[in-house]
Amino acid sequence: TLIQRGPDAILRMILRKPSHERSSDDLETIYEELLHIRALSHLSNSIKRELASAVVFEAHPKAGSVLFHQGDEGRSWYIILRGSVDVVIHGKGTVTTLQEGDDFGKLALINDAPRAATIVLRENNCHFLRVDKDNFNRTLRDVEANTVRLKEHGKDVLILEKISQQQKQAFSHFKYTVMAGTPQKMLEHLLETRLDGRGNFGSGDNFIITTAQDPFLDDFLLTHVVNLSPIFFLTVSFTYRLDSPSQDREFVLACKRRVVQFVYRWVTTIRQPVFDDESAIEFLEDLASEIENDCIQLNALQEEASLMHHVMTQFRRYQEDRKANSGQKWKLPPCGQPISLFSGNKDSRTIIMPQDDIIFRVYCADHTYCTLRLPVDSTAETIKLCAADKLKLRPNDELLLVEVKSHGERMTFKDNDISIPTALSLNGRIFVSPKDHLDALTCLSEQEEATQGIDGDLELFSTKELAYYMTLFDWDLFWCVHEYELLYHTFGRHHFGQITANLDVFLRRFNELQFWVVTEICMTSSLSKRVAVLRKFIKLAAYCKEYQNLNAFCAIVMGLSNMAISRLSLTWEKLPSKFRKLYTEFESLIDPSRNHRSYRVSVSKLQPPIVPFMPLLLKDMTFTHEGNKTSLDGLVNFEKMHMLAQTLRTIRFCRSRHLVLDPPSPKSEGEVKSYISCLRVIDNQRILTGMSQKLEPRRS
Ligand code: CMP
Repeated sequence: TLIQRGPDAILRMILRKPSHERSSDDLETIYEELLHIRALSHLSNSIKRELASAVVFEAHPKAGSVLFHQGDEGRSWYIILRGSVDVVIHGKGTVTTLQEGDDFGKLALINDAPRAATIVLRENNCHFLRVDKDNFNRTLRDVEANTVRLKEHGKDVLILEKISQQQKQAFSHFKYTVMAGTPQKMLEHLLETRLDGRGNFGSGDNFIITTAQDPFLDDFLLTHVVNLSPIFFLTVSFTYRLDSPSQDREFVLACKRRVVQFVYRWVTTIRQPVFDDESAIEFLEDLASEIENDCIQLNALQEEASLMHHVMTQFRRYQEDRKANSGQKWKLPPCGQPISLFSGNKDSRTIIMPQDDIIFRVYCADHTYCTLRLPVDSTAETIKLCAADKLKLRPNDELLLVEVKSHGERMTFKDNDISIPTALSLNGRIFVSPKDHLDALTCLSEQEEATQGIDGDLELFSTKELAYYMTLFDWDLFWCVHEYELLYHTFGRHHFGQITANLDVFLRRFNELQFWVVTEICMTSSLSKRVAVLRKFIKLAAYCKEYQNLNAFCAIVMGLSNMAISRLSLTWEKLPSKFRKLYTEFESLIDPSRNHRSYRVSVSKLQPPIVPFMPLLLKDMTFTHEGNKTSLDGLVNFEKMHMLAQTLRTIRFCRSRHLVLDPPSPKSEGEVKSYISCLRVIDNQRILTGMSQKLEPRRS
């Protein structure tokens, strides 16, 4: 009779037996069946044998019934034997339909997260194979496919990849990491898997314990400006406003809790760019008041309300600080001292803000100029129009805004570029010119000379004192750079309409130090004095290294290895061997071979505070950017975002402790401070080489 009921019926009967009652023939029958199931095709046969005793048969007669709800705890994994189901997501409706041979319900199990969707039967009489969580974990968790793809409306929306064994130690308990996805789906996945909806966290700071080791949330916060700003608030606020009657109270509360935790993390990690973004503040204010309402109406979410309260207090404090420092006026004088010093401001730790004014000159081909005062975030086009107006250029000509560098090179700015004056090269000048007269632009004679430094005899200052104040100075400049500025710089700030002024100033300082070293030595005509200056710079590099100011250290050593200096053989010969040895050691540290390996190795041993060698960090960012697509078949390439975030975390690590140095015995504090803030610098290599040749003509 069994045979008459057909093979399906036999199979069902066997599958209904509890696993300890299945005979070896039964298991063989089930195994044969499993061999033909698509969802299992990636698994080895021995795993399928194990599954033969674990799978359970489950049938549902009625279309429309719900197998489980989004937000439920995940208890099993399912394979469709017969029929089909709809995958329904709150606020989106049915996102995809699964058919015979497909599987579902894995996500909650592999991520230890709530169900990401509701599963509704599409037809009567659906049959499933079910594997319960314990069995799933025992047999499948470790052999699961390397890649999990989720689809909505026929298109991939999220691609997860298994974390390798080696990475896993560092990555906490998460099994899968996001490789690519649509911004919205990634954000949803983040909220569901990385934040705790249970609301049982204690104080504000440790609710993310489960995610402390996992970088997904942090990667997302650090890099979302690249792809997803606009969608960000929408999704977050949508998730917050869930209150459909079909969802139970706990589900709604969990969503709200997650959103608030997320927002809290976002604001406390990113801070200034959030507080300066009007739409973000509007969003925060709305959210805070909604939560306060909810708190009363639902008699829940008290902790969330206090988190939001905390966020808003921080914002108000920030605003007061800003008000106290508002109306900064930065001057970019014709002879380029580093911009931070142009403000008549005593506090060097003042961040340059987009709305601050900057005063600078714009020149014409005949070297007449006008002086402009414009916000730092003015576009090249605005600058061009203002300059043309002041200089009375014919408006019909097609004009270009150009930087002319001290060696004559011309760089045309795109109309929508911003942060123009701060991004100039050391002795560069801004010119405005009709398009067809570009070739006539020549640099000003003052550009080939040294910038006006402050008078002071380098030799009279104590080297340690110099290094000490240089480090404080560089630390302040570094402190002002926001991580986002590196992203804007890497992707092109005109894409974002965001300034990179603080980063510009810090990079400019690097170049300035480097060429200052070359300039000082080339300007010292007496051989014995030159040897003394060379010695002083090597000592200075040594102190900077000791203070972990690697930006200045690398700048000085690179200055010393400049061709104009390295060719001065008479000078180097007279240098005491102790210093020559020290220099050789330093030179090997800045050796770029094997991707700056020796620098990287020695930095990896340091503890913060560190002033890092910034050009190298930017090089890493650019390398990642150029070597990896931002978008893969319409999905954000999140692996790239993770790599970029790693570099940004390096910066965060360097600054994770305050700089506290023992001050050297004061000798000439005031003079040293003003001296190092205003160095004389020639940045034209041809001229420097010429000076060097005059000092020590080539020996025949
Ligand atoms: P889980 O979160 O455990 O429960 C719902 C399941 O629906 C989920 O695992 C996936 O296996 C499946 N699913 C299929 N497509 C999607 C999708 N686009 N988003 C979320 N879940 C999906």
